[in-house]
Amino acid sequence: MDIEDVRQDIPMLKELIYLDAASTTPTPVPVIKAMSNYFYNYNANIGRGAYSIAVKATRKINDARSKVARFIKADTSDIIFTKNTTEAINIVAQGIDFNKGDSVVVPNIEHHSNFIPWLNLKKRGVEINVVKADPQGIIDPSTIEDAVDETTRLITVTQVSNALGSQQDVEEIGKIAQEQDVLYLIDAAQSIGHMEVNVNKMKAHFVAFPGHKGTMGPVGTGFLYCCQEQASELDVSLLGGGTVYDVSESDFELEDSPYRFEGGTPNIAGFIGLGASIDYINQIGLKRIENHGLKYTEILYDSLAEIEQVTVYGDPQNIYGIVSFNINNMNPHDVAKILDEVKGICVRSGYHCAIPAMRHIGAYQKGGTIRASLHYYNTLEEIQELADTVGELTKTWGA
Ligand SMILES: Cc1ncc(COP(=O)(O)O)c(C=O)c1O
Repeated sequence: MDIEDVRQDIPMLKELIYLDAASTTPTPVPVIKAMSNYFYNYNANIGRGAYSIAVKATRKINDARSKVARFIKADTSDIIFTKNTTEAINIVAQGIDFNKGDSVVVPNIEHHSNFIPWLNLKKRGVEINVVKADPQGIIDPSTIEDAVDETTRLITVTQVSNALGSQQDVEEIGKIAQEQDVLYLIDAAQSIGHMEVNVNKMKAHFVAFPGHKGTMGPVGTGFLYCCQEQASELDVSLLGGGTVYDVSESDFELEDSPYRFEGGTPNIAGFIGLGASIDYINQIGLKRIENHGLKYTEILYDSLAEIEQVTVYGDPQNIYGIVSFNINNMNPHDVAKILDEVKGICVRSGYHCAIPAMRHIGAYQKGGTIRASLHYYNTLEEIQELADTVGELTKTWGA
């Protein structure tokens, strides 16, 4: 499928320029159809009914789990469905039996969803060892290695920063975790669906994913890769229907993973949609998406960087899919509002749920940055339109 085919499947792209894939991506028509087919034809709960539409719904969810697993080279039983990346990270942060005096190594440019759940462990006497990225948002694996000591229980890192687009060497950091025999969690919110994510190569115990970003699945979906060995160690906090083998009046016996972590009725239509979205991404071809992303990120970066009075953040050699920038003298929210009003350009503005990262790059006082983020459906014309409009703004409003 080429870009035009994909654009045909996303009708809203006829009306606007969508440059906010890092927040969430639009859902293509085949994915919507897979979900509406469920609602129209076999809208039943899963794992509970013996009648045929309930069996069909259960089979479709199982299929979706297998597709997701194959996509990241995991086993089906390693995939825990969640409502988003945030829930996936919290299952781990709240599930590990941390002891007072344990510590966690976490970079200072993380999304809040991979920062606050660890900070919150301070209540349990866990130390948070925050390592600094370089000024461009790159984390030197040696800084992680230096931060690890005998108290470290877990290292975490985000593969592609949502604030700056910087890519981290997650495999190298994985080797450090392995050598030091500590747990390792990767936040893959901005890489999945954009590039190959192979959990075997990453050597991570846990990888947290959205379904609604790069994979073009629906909002309300996400998943956690959790290796079997750790799944049985994690405490489960959402207990109820679907999580147990047996219950007596005095005790209960938990189901195996993933079911023990998926209490209650899940977002059935959403996960069927997620399965369809994986098919969709495979149909386009991950390599094709990645090549498009690499080329268009460079063009986006360069076309903004050459405008006087524009500051572009991050190292152009290292970013993927995301370009954060500012216009001197202008508040990022004002810029985003004007871009939308005059040209229908959707970009995100502000702190991007990464306030420590904004402080790190010196953009906090300014109110954060403007962030343009790409996917395969974006065209060169759209990038040019953004750059031209930003150029016009600097002439009217800049310093
Ligand atoms: C790097 C990163 N981690 C975590 C999240 C949270 O994702 P979700 O909204 O799926 O919980 C985001 C969302 O933008 C993100 O970019």
